Amino acid sequence: MAVLMGGPSAEREVSLSSGRECAIALREAGYDVIEVDAGPDLAAVLTSEKPDVVFNALHGRWGEDGCVQGLLEWMRIPYTHSGVLCSALAMDKEKTKDAYRAAGLPVMDSVLATRADIEAAHVMAPPYVVKPYNEGSSVGVYIVREKANGPPTLAPELPDVLMVETYAPGRELTTTVIGDKALGVTDIVTDGWYDFHAKYAEGGSRHVVPADVPQEIFDACLDYALRAHRVLGCRGVSRTDFRWDEARGLDGLILLETNTQPGMTPTSLVPEQAAHEGISFPELCAWMVEDASC
Ligand code: DAL
Ligand code: MG
Repeated sequence: MAVLMGGPSAEREVSLSSGRECAIALREAGYDVIEVDAGPDLAAVLTSEKPDVVFNALHGRWGEDGCVQGLLEWMRIPYTHSGVLCSALAMDKEKTKDAYRAAGLPVMDSVLATRADIEAAHVMAPPYVVKPYNEGSSVGVYIVREKANGPPTLAPELPDVLMVETYAPGRELTTTVIGDKALGVTDIVTDGWYDFHAKYAEGGSRHVVPADVPQEIFDACLDYALRAHRVLGCRGVSRTDFRWDEARGLDGLILLETNTQPGMTPTSLVPEQAAHEGISFPELCAWMVEDASC
């Protein structure tokens, strides 16, 4: 089997870490594994290596957004995780919200705006968040807390159109879905917010598994994550991220997004939730391989 990793997205380094961990685990589970850094010659590499299955450990654009999935469909190579349509839909945070709303799932209001408009004046009343609508791992995220701070100055490498979303206060919760089962709820505790550093640095955040939240909130996370997985049309493993404003009870629980190829790094949430449910990392990866299709 080929484990796809790396690639050209802003989450390249995260994907290399996920891919290496999965390759080690799959070898441990008895598979014959080659590691493939996904570049422009990907089709040629797959043609010459002829893997029976692709384990897709790419994150972000091109690898998680339906592009690679389309290539693998075209080449008739079974691959892990979600298919073309779901991958494209879930990578677009605005379109994802439309799907969530259709399923009656709660989200924060947001609009798409140009860089120029975002930098010229507050697009909405602070507090709000500016983020790419099609990236992961909190790359390029700005939080505008107060009116007096003025609108943000955006990094030059960010795209021309970004999402501006009402800031969702509260705790960061997350739920993994495997097949047709929601695994549990993790509470992510950070000093500031769950940014790139908090996500991937050793000790950058503390994960409470299972989350110490009221049963009603725990059950709602499981229910919402499963409904999100289904309405987006996910396959295999997905992870849905929430914010929960305790003061507002169940009304304070909103969905941020569903990750169709969630991180599998040593600090990532899915392997940790699986382990808590008694599923080892090699077992988790092997399950995904057996679930692969095209
Ligand atoms: N986008 C990162 C890899 C995650 O969701 O875990
Ligand atoms: Mg994400």
